[in-house]
Amino acid sequence: MFDSGFGGLTVARALIDLLPAEDLVYVGDTGRYPYGPRPLDEVREFALEIADHLVEHHDVKLIVVACNTASAAALAELQGSMPIPVVGVIEPGVRSLVSATRSGHIGVIGTVGTIGSGAYQSAVERTEAKVTLTCAACPGFVEFVERGDTDSDQVHVLAERLLAPLRDAGIDTLLLGCTHYPFLARTITDVMGREVVLVDSADETAFRIRELLAELGLERTESGRVGCHIFESSGDVDMFRRLGRSMLGPELDDVRSVAWT
Ligand code: DGL
Repeated sequence: MFDSGFGGLTVARALIDLLPAEDLVYVGDTGRYPYGPRPLDEVREFALEIADHLVEHHDVKLIVVACNTASAAALAELQGSMPIPVVGVIEPGVRSLVSATRSGHIGVIGTVGTIGSGAYQSAVERTEAKVTLTCAACPGFVEFVERGDTDSDQVHVLAERLLAPLRDAGIDTLLLGCTHYPFLARTITDVMGREVVLVDSADETAFRIRELLAELGLERTESGRVGCHIFESSGDVDMFRRLGRSMLGPELDDVRSVAWT
């Protein structure tokens, strides 16, 4: 599994809870975050490099692109080029979104790269659900999360400004289309109002992975087995351990450094 930094830990948490027997390698590319403002071609190169690393150095059986920006930029290419199954977070998130809405007025927030790519707009269209979608990019949110600041006045002021179009559109369900955003859920709810349901892709992605592993006969079935969890960071390893552990929990212990050539 990989993300630009800490955001994918929301998906890792869901996966560890749902599939405790599975081994997990998580790469947080904190040396090159954030991905959101970068050109999609550059993010695609990063994604291919990390996927190759996971196959070559860890012999993984499945890759989870636990990052919306990387999913938007590279999922199709990864699925076409990797020798193993690759799962992204966009389709699972959209499934949750479309099934949760009552009024049909839905919203998605994400990075500039994700929203600009049109990946969510296309994924919602593919469901053929009768819904009206409003999208907004939220530049700056990821940087607050990466600093461990999820509820200061500053992040609140930024959220008021960035979420205004979604409030004006009268949506009843909002998909957090960036794996970092669940850490801002309280602030986002404060701004949007408690009647707006927030959904994220973490649980639905974990369910999709369980389904796929079972379909392919790749799941670990030994009862009582506890998987081993390795975390790699391309940035400051001590900071990754400290901040990551406060976000994921005690399973985040074995943190190693990874460097790109
Ligand atoms: N967490 C990532 C996402 O889901 C990327 C955030 C970033 O690096 O800008 O889009």
